[in-house]
Amino acid sequence: MKICLIGPMGSGKSTIGNRLAQRLGIRFEDSDKEIERRTGVDIPYIFEAEGEGGFRKREICAIKDLVESPEKMVLATGGGAVIKKENRQNLTKNCTVIYLLTSVEQQMERTRKDKNRPLLQTADPMQKLLDLFEQRSPLYEEIADIIVSTDNVGIEAILDEIESRLNII
Ligand code: S3P
Repeated sequence: MKICLIGPMGSGKSTIGNRLAQRLGIRFEDSDKEIERRTGVDIPYIFEAEGEGGFRKREICAIKDLVESPEKMVLATGGGAVIKKENRQNLTKNCTVIYLLTSVEQQMERTRKDKNRPLLQTADPMQKLLDLFEQRSPLYEEIADIIVSTDNVGIEAILDEIESRLNII
């Protein structure tokens, strides 16, 4: 069993993924953390040194290796993973894909103090999140097997919903 969480920055992929893996008794992985582990530097440093293009190449390799490993796992991906066709193909081929649907207002609230997301270090992060939502939401929807809304819902209720939807897939 491989479950992959997709969705924008601040949709709760890491928090929910971690807890879901605990509930299911399987491993939790995070593609951003895997990239940091492999390179020994953080995501902002990779963006600075290699640009977004360099980061995306590393992300493709990390996701491919993770989803092709034989182990059961819950995988949280970066919010931009879906923009690459290779990732969309590797995720749909190997995983049940769950899209955490989240409003831009909620994303804004959850990422407000964050310095670790290079794409949001702009004068107008709200506008950036709106633009990304417009570009990426069709891609999230395209590959999702399950769509779960995370706005104004507690984590336990989100986990319950995911578990019950997984049981009927
Ligand atoms: C990105 C999202 C980030 C991280 C990188 C780029 C994006 O992951 O991969 O900063 O393009 O939306 P999170 O969604 O976990 O914040």
